[in-house]
Amino acid sequence: MLDLHCHILPGIDDGAKDLDTALAMARIAIDDGIDTIACTPHIYPGMYENTATGIRAAIAAFQAELDQRDMPLKLLEGADVYLEPGLDVAIKADRVPTLAGSRYLLLEPPHHVMPPHFEETVFGLKMAGYVPVITHPERLTWIPGHYDVLERMVNAGAWMQITAGSITGRFGGGPKQVCERMLDDGLVHIIATDAHNLSRRAPYLAEGRDAAAQRVGAAEAEHLVTTRPAGIIADTPPGQLPPLPQAKTERRQRSRSLWQKLVGGDKVRW
Ligand SMILES: [Fe+2]
Repeated sequence: MLDLHCHILPGIDDGAKDLDTALAMARIAIDDGIDTIACTPHIYPGMYENTATGIRAAIAAFQAELDQRDMPLKLLEGADVYLEPGLDVAIKADRVPTLAGSRYLLLEPPHHVMPPHFEETVFGLKMAGYVPVITHPERLTWIPGHYDVLERMVNAGAWMQITAGSITGRFGGGPKQVCERMLDDGLVHIIATDAHNLSRRAPYLAEGRDAAAQRVGAAEAEHLVTTRPAGIIADTPPGQLPPLPQAKTERRQRSRSLWQKLVGGDKVRW
């Protein structure tokens, strides 16, 4: 499995606090069946001013620590990028890293309010040639009242990443319910751990895959943690990766087929 959202780099954000913690997180991930981790520290103006250069240096240092200990884990670059205007310029200037240098990037919306220009920013990135992967929509407190935003963004080509621990209930009943609804509606592209530490937010991915399999079946669950993440790091165009499963709900099926009629749906513009 590949974990494309993980705050494992030591001392760079609110993730692993030191090298020992990062190594212990790596051990958990390896034992869980993860062989590749995208190191995705926060880039959050005014709080976590990480840059592509700094992240790369931290990855090289931590990879050396893992290799020295014969720990079989491949680290790739990335960032958990807070939503703000002008990101396409920052990516082109190599200040903000995408996932393994691909066209895909993690995009973190505000947790408690729907930002006024959310959809425009996402569509702007898409038009600039990127695939925004929206992080943990199930944990955003404003999503239950604005679920239709997710449907529209997926129809327009954004990807959705839900958190393994949310599916299993580690973040409570609300996020679990949104995960289940999104899985049933065929609105989830990948699962990641978004791990930060060794306790409540440790890098367990297999339990999320298994819980997802209960709703979408084993083959699609594998796509969520292996096929699509591997496609992301190979920079495979989204249209060449496994399509999202059919929605179980009639409403979502209607919304998707209407969009496909209008603009060609998932195949649009890549
Ligand atoms: Fe994160």
